[in-house]
Amino acid sequence: VSRGINGMFTVALYGVGEINKLVARELVRRGIEIVAAIDIDPNKVGKDLGQLIGLGKDLGVTVVDYDDVLLDTQPDIVIHATGSFLDKVFDQIINSVRAGCNVISTCETLTYPWYRYPVLARLIDEEAVKYGVTVLSTGINPGFLLDTLPSVLTLPVFEVKRIVAIRVSNAGKRRPSFRKKIGLGLPIEEVKEGLKKGELTGHVGCAESVLLIADKLGIQPSKVIEFQEPIEAKENIEVGGIKVGEGCNLGIRSVGIAYVGNEEFIRVEFIAKLTKDEYEEIVIEGNPTLKWRSEGTPGDEGTAAILVNLLPEVLDAPAGLITMNDLNYLANTEVMVRIGKH
Ligand SMILES: NC(=O)c1ccc[n+]([C@@H]2O[C@H](COP(=O)([O-])OP(=O)(O)OC[C@H]3O[C@@H](n4cnc5c(N)ncnc54)[C@H](OP(=O)(O)O)[C@@H]3O)[C@@H](O)[C@H]2O)c1
Repeated sequence: VSRGINGMFTVALYGVGEINKLVARELVRRGIEIVAAIDIDPNKVGKDLGQLIGLGKDLGVTVVDYDDVLLDTQPDIVIHATGSFLDKVFDQIINSVRAGCNVISTCETLTYPWYRYPVLARLIDEEAVKYGVTVLSTGINPGFLLDTLPSVLTLPVFEVKRIVAIRVSNAGKRRPSFRKKIGLGLPIEEVKEGLKKGELTGHVGCAESVLLIADKLGIQPSKVIEFQEPIEAKENIEVGGIKVGEGCNLGIRSVGIAYVGNEEFIRVEFIAKLTKDEYEEIVIEGNPTLKWRSEGTPGDEGTAAILVNLLPEVLDAPAGLITMNDLNYLANTEVMVRIGKH
């Protein structure tokens, strides 16, 4: 498949939600041809993609609610962004593979699927090899900030003793659907109960992140644990017009830890709460110890950019189910497109 710009490969969107709308706009900007768009939302089905993404003109791609459209249109790659749990999206992935399409997905549990869904991972890998296509799941988190980036940061360190990666994100700036899934502003007991029953999903992917780092560093963890807990507001708090009362839920702390022997070796934390102070901080303890800190990274835009930037890599990758660790993501010859010089 050609790596070039200007429509030398074709793309389908599976899901036309917030992420794939950003993706579609960037594909249009780069002149990459979109040949199909699939979604089950009745408000989107039957509409032209160009109108849905706010281009103010038709793109000639009508959103449909069936994936046979992939057989008709034969895209080189499907950009999949519908759900977080592999058992729920498995049919969507496998149908894309069986239509002969490469897949790049945002499904969090598919970023390192051998942890939660080893049987489904094997099935996808076998089918992808059979059909000669590649399947990758990625995104900002999991996929980049708390796994790929910490792995890269171990490069200038002789000996790594421990890795701690923390992301703090202002939940107040996120979409209402995100604020709902972390139970922002609810009574603490209600959030604890919701997390226990799975009614509140919180963040998905901390275990996948620690396992991606362990895999990249060639470490076999003795144990991986994961938990989520609400963060109680110590006083009434208001940020950007959103208020949380004292004693209610300010947000959620999600933690993943990989142990080697009895020692904690990799810890990732994602804190999504009402805050003005957004950052990522990665500490590689070792010889030498290295600390990296940012002032926060926009999640949706970051995810969409990763998906589009990695299209050539996924198209060139060997057939099968791969992870971010299998990619040579810095060798993208389309850098001119990324820095906007075309
Ligand atoms: N790894 C990462 O860093 C990362 C980053 C961002 C997002 N994500 C994940 O990526 C997924 C998509 O995110 P988003 O923000 O774009 O979500 P979204 O705005 O909810 O969009 C998802 C779209 O897919 C549709 N859909 C659901 N089931 C479908 C099916 N079986 N076939 C076709 N379409 C279907 C939904 O329709 P309905 O609304 O009718 O259900 C909706 O239009 C989420 O699971 C999110 O957690 C991961």
